[in-house]
Amino acid sequence: MWYNIWLVCFAILQVGNAFGSLPYGNSTARPFTLRVTDGQIRDFKSLLTASKVGPEAWYTTQRDGQLGITREWLTGAKKAWVNFDWRKQERRINSFPNFKAMVGNEAVGATPIHFTALFSKRKDALPLLFLHGWPGSIFEFLPMLDILKNKYTPETFPYHVIVPSLPHFGLSGGPIDVELTLLSAAEMMNQLMLDLGFSKGYVVQGGDVGGALARLLSVLSPEVKAFHVNLLGPDSPEELLRMTNITQVEQEHIDRMNAFAANGSSYIFEHGQRPSTVGLVLSSNPLAMLAWIGEKLIEWPDRRYPLSLDTMLTLVTFYWYTDTLPRSLYPYRGIVASGNRNGLLSPVPTSKEKPFGHSVFPSEILVLPESCAKQTYPNLVYYKRNEKGGHFAALEQPELFLANIEEFLSIARPIIGL
Ligand SMILES: *[C@@H]1O[C@H](CO)[C@@H](O)[C@H](O)[C@H]1NC(C)=O
Ligand SMILES: *[C@@H]1O[C@H](CO)[C@@H](O)[C@H](O)[C@H]1NC(C)=O
Ligand SMILES: *[C@@H]1O[C@H](CO)[C@@H](O)[C@H](O)[C@H]1NC(C)=O
Repeated sequence: MWYNIWLVCFAILQVGNAFGSLPYGNSTARPFTLRVTDGQIRDFKSLLTASKVGPEAWYTTQRDGQLGITREWLTGAKKAWVNFDWRKQERRINSFPNFKAMVGNEAVGATPIHFTALFSKRKDALPLLFLHGWPGSIFEFLPMLDILKNKYTPETFPYHVIVPSLPHFGLSGGPIDVELTLLSAAEMMNQLMLDLGFSKGYVVQGGDVGGALARLLSVLSPEVKAFHVNLLGPDSPEELLRMTNITQVEQEHIDRMNAFAANGSSYIFEHGQRPSTVGLVLSSNPLAMLAWIGEKLIEWPDRRYPLSLDTMLTLVTFYWYTDTLPRSLYPYRGIVASGNRNGLLSPVPTSKEKPFGHSVFPSEILVLPESCAKQTYPNLVYYKRNEKGGHFAALEQPELFLANIEEFLSIARPIIGL
């Protein structure tokens, strides 16, 4: 019946719009739908199909991962990738409310910033900003958004959740005529939140580059009332020396961190010292990009719960279609400029007053043991060591990740009174 069809259409529209109402009408944000062109997909497939997997050699056949990905893995991944259903992933992104807003400052000018969001209809909803890292993207947080969508309605949702593509990552733009710094990127994220009307305050969460941005924001933004990170390492040699009173589990984690510094951090220097070369090399061919990023997607999660090949291909395809690689290397310039040689000690200004939370996931590449973290950060109100998970915690263990965030908020919210 015509009215039934009408009702179904109406229901679909309702579902599409749920969580998609901007809390303040004056924002510059406009709804956005992702649509990669058929031509882009054709170009991708023909480049991928024509690309060659390098030869068998002693190095490309070592299976322990110590020398990088194997030829066997790359061959299998290429085969699966040729038949990859990008449109399915696109529909997944578009099943969430997406927006672009013009954000900028004097240093970098105005730039379109993309974000995925779930907005509440509640007046007392707490705004939460989630910041991904490299080689991450908004995809890392989609499983968590799914959980939240199923758990709440816009009327009961206690948060506004904002998940941007970082400046010069994914669907966000960035300056081309000046170098982007982490500081400017952090300012842009803050301006996005102000543009959305969250001038009363918000909480920021991040890992990897996003963790560094969250810590910077804790210092530079009066609107940031509390912050949580899932990557934290020592900032100074003194901090390393203070690593006393640590548990056996923490000592094993420190050993893994030292192994990462000794044998797994060379990419940091390539990114920081020759960003143009590596960016252009990896943009020339999808298979090259898959090898470079795939190594991290294999190495950095908790090996007991590896990412599926489909998830890895999704993350890399998104980098491919959004030309993220050569744009997204700016955070490493600062790490290398800070003079450290092993990827460990790159100090980030961090508030010692605002409520600070840290979740440790056992396969994370860096670690700061609890006693040490508490000495450095007297404002650390939440320190939680989890039993599973790694560098891509939100993607690997979304339930656990969200439970950690909600636990942190239950401690921080009464303190900040938001
Ligand atoms: C919109 O209004 C809110 C609340 O009055 C304000 O904080 C915010 O800065 C405004 N945003 C813009 C883009 O003018
Ligand atoms: C060492 O750790 C134990 C157990 O966590 C704790 O009770 C004690 O206060 C710590 N000592 C120092 C000096 O941090
Ligand atoms: C780094 O790799 C080398 C060669 O495989 C190995 O001998 C060494 O023990 C590793 N270093 C650390 C700290 O794991």
